[in-house]
Amino acid sequence: MGVGVYIASQLVWPQLNLDLPWTSFGRLRPLHTNLVIFAFGGCALFATSYYVVQRTCQTRLISDSLAAFTFWGWQAVIVLAGITLPLGYTSSKEYAELEWPIDILLAIVWVTYAVVFFGTIVKRQTKHIYVGNWFYGGFILVTAMLHIVNSAELPVTWFKSYSVYAGATDAMIQWWYGHNAVGFFLTTGFLGMMYYFVPKQAERPIYSYRLSIVHFWALITLYIWAGPHHLHYTALPDWAQSLGMVMSLILLAPSWGGMINGMMTLSGAWHKLRTDPILRFLVVSLAFYGMSTFEGPMMAIKTVNSLSHYTDWTIGHVHAGALGWVAMISIGSLYHLIPKVFGREQMHSIGLINAHFWLATIGTVLYIASMWVNGITQGLMWRAINADGTLTYSFVEALQASHPGFIVRALGGAFFASGMLLMAYNTFRTVRGFKLADADAAAQIPAVGAH
Ligand code: HEM
Ligand code: HEM
Repeated sequence: MGVGVYIASQLVWPQLNLDLPWTSFGRLRPLHTNLVIFAFGGCALFATSYYVVQRTCQTRLISDSLAAFTFWGWQAVIVLAGITLPLGYTSSKEYAELEWPIDILLAIVWVTYAVVFFGTIVKRQTKHIYVGNWFYGGFILVTAMLHIVNSAELPVTWFKSYSVYAGATDAMIQWWYGHNAVGFFLTTGFLGMMYYFVPKQAERPIYSYRLSIVHFWALITLYIWAGPHHLHYTALPDWAQSLGMVMSLILLAPSWGGMINGMMTLSGAWHKLRTDPILRFLVVSLAFYGMSTFEGPMMAIKTVNSLSHYTDWTIGHVHAGALGWVAMISIGSLYHLIPKVFGREQMHSIGLINAHFWLATIGTVLYIASMWVNGITQGLMWRAINADGTLTYSFVEALQASHPGFIVRALGGAFFASGMLLMAYNTFRTVRGFKLADADAAAQIPAVGAH
């Protein structure tokens, strides 16, 4: 997020590019996306899935050493991303920029993750598999499939490879990957988190277990077809674009079904929102999930996309999902999980969690509102034409009009990132209060199911 604030500031003050290749926007932008999605989001998913699968299956992971391998392997991938991306090594596929040796390491780590997760499910002491695990399982399987298929490439040197696909096929495979990275990495995995931590924190069972099953099957059936909405008005066959649009519109239904299921879990517990900032994080994340999954299908409509595509509207949509949904549900879940893992009653300071909540919420609103204004301004200025058919505005005029929005976005991002610093401090204090003698006590905490 620090890199996010830095590149957001570069768009306000281009001097911050420092005239160096390593610190230029073009190299730091993929560094930002890799770090927030795979380092932050990925670690939150690993940690919570290992926690949830053990609690709900009432058994330990099948192998501590394999789990440790996934931890170190994943951190190695992140460190390598942190080194190679600023140096300019990239496959140039969005969200799959890492070069082939790192791709192979990533695939090995991911398959090991699948072995640990599904092995633990097989070894479970409970009869049925809690729905949260279905979502985590779907996310793990599909991510493996996407990564392996999209990263098929021909190495020419240690740091350079070419995709085995060509032309429109390459674009389609890339956005089949890209959209499902959103659908399975940034959505399905985090829904697994939602189905465990929302009922736990609210101390209420899931509103409708039946709805959660329908939600799962409908979501995974539909998501996989929606990728072409990233390629409207391109060389992709028109029928494929229209199919992607229709599937995206239908996707609204399961998305909102899941959101409503999470929200309604609070029935009878709404009063807790007054005093529990962790629950507030979880509920507000669901609200942003609902918002971004309404906005997404609208942007998938070809006529709307002709305005929104290439503009900051997309960036606003991305961060409504990324900050409002992905980051907030992770933060809420981690505030629940950290004291449990370290054998503490609760986090060191509830006041700091509350402050974090407001920084995150205000930061997200500033970010997405400024990007809506910028996006619609850019879209309208780019398409404005005079009576004689010439363009009314030059590109630079639209860029100038975007400047105030860039300032507000950088401010919103700084709000959000400073909230994370409060969380780091609060976590440090919570964990530091942990004495070695407590370790045995923590290990004795009985595993409990989600409901
Ligand atoms: C029903 C759900 C959703 C649909 C139908 C949808 C649809 C769309 C559409 C139409 C675009 C613009 C494509 C373009 O013009 O290039 C887009 C971009 C994007 N969306 Fe969504 N969206 C949904 C939910 C989400 C959520 C929940 C997140 C995040 C957690 C998200 C993350 C993204 C990202 C990262 C992009 C930018 C991709 C890129 O061009 O790099 N979306 N989405
Ligand atoms: C302090 C918080 C953050 C700030 C200030 C920030 C800032 C930015 C900026 C400036 C860009 C480039 C926009 C452009 O090219 O015009 C960007 C792109 C992106 N960010 Fe963030 N970001 C933040 C947090 C996050 C988080 C937590 C996630 C994911 C979980 C995320 C996911 C993305 C993605 C997927 C893109 C690429 C969007 C696209 O290509 O359409 N960001 N971010």
